Amino acid sequence: MSLSDGYPGLPPQGMVDLHGHLLPGIDDGAKHLEQSLNMARQAVADGIVISVVTPHHLNGVYSNPARDVREHCDAFRGALREHGIPLEILPGNECHLVPELPEALAAGTALTVADRGRAVLVELPVHTVPLGATGILEEILAMGLQPVIAHPERNTELAADPELLGEWVDMGCLAQVTAQSCTGRFGPHVQRAARRMVCEGLVHVLASDAHRDSRRIPQLQPGREVVAQWASTEAARLLTEEFPRALAEGQLVNITLLRDALPVRSAGFVGWLRDRLRA
Ligand SMILES: [Fe+2]
Repeated sequence: MSLSDGYPGLPPQGMVDLHGHLLPGIDDGAKHLEQSLNMARQAVADGIVISVVTPHHLNGVYSNPARDVREHCDAFRGALREHGIPLEILPGNECHLVPELPEALAAGTALTVADRGRAVLVELPVHTVPLGATGILEEILAMGLQPVIAHPERNTELAADPELLGEWVDMGCLAQVTAQSCTGRFGPHVQRAARRMVCEGLVHVLASDAHRDSRRIPQLQPGREVVAQWASTEAARLLTEEFPRALAEGQLVNITLLRDALPVRSAGFVGWLRDRLRA
């Protein structure tokens, strides 16, 4: 089942966080409802109006099939209303990139982004790109779904050489960088990789990937400011508002808008040197 008719009354303006573990007690995210509510308050304070909640699925540790996530999501939405917290919650999964994923999507047991049947948040292992990854992504694309690669800057292989990410983006995939990667929370290597991916136009979404109400919190604004410095305020707006909202609403992302929002890359040795010094 897909909620293709849409959710009535989505907030018309504000940032949209496409990746977060706010649902209590079902993965390595929020431990209990009180923490989930705190995280929701932090999101609202940051200017986030919609959070797609994305419990891990198919990663060999956590199994959170679609029906369960929808139920948890409804319960959490009720708790938010009860506590007067103005955050809209939509269901999703962070799906591990395994050979079984296309089948799970076809069967409706793995959730698409916001349950819209348009895009899928796909997670890689921390260090490697599994053999056959490109083939699985092609299978998902052939189903009419658009994979959104979760935090490629935190995958050791892609961070060292983003060329493969470029190939996936050329195939039709999108990519999501974590806001705290941009601010340096995961170290200088990850930060450099995030910068390169953003400036090369390989990133379409900035998300929090929040797990707690301390440290890894639902917050986009600091990362948004860094992206604005690296690229432009318009690029930062596209990555935190326009593109994630399109995905949360089940629309196509107009990636041509990103081209005009990115800095023109310097040519020649002087430009190369200038870019190196800036990095
Ligand atoms: Fe995550």
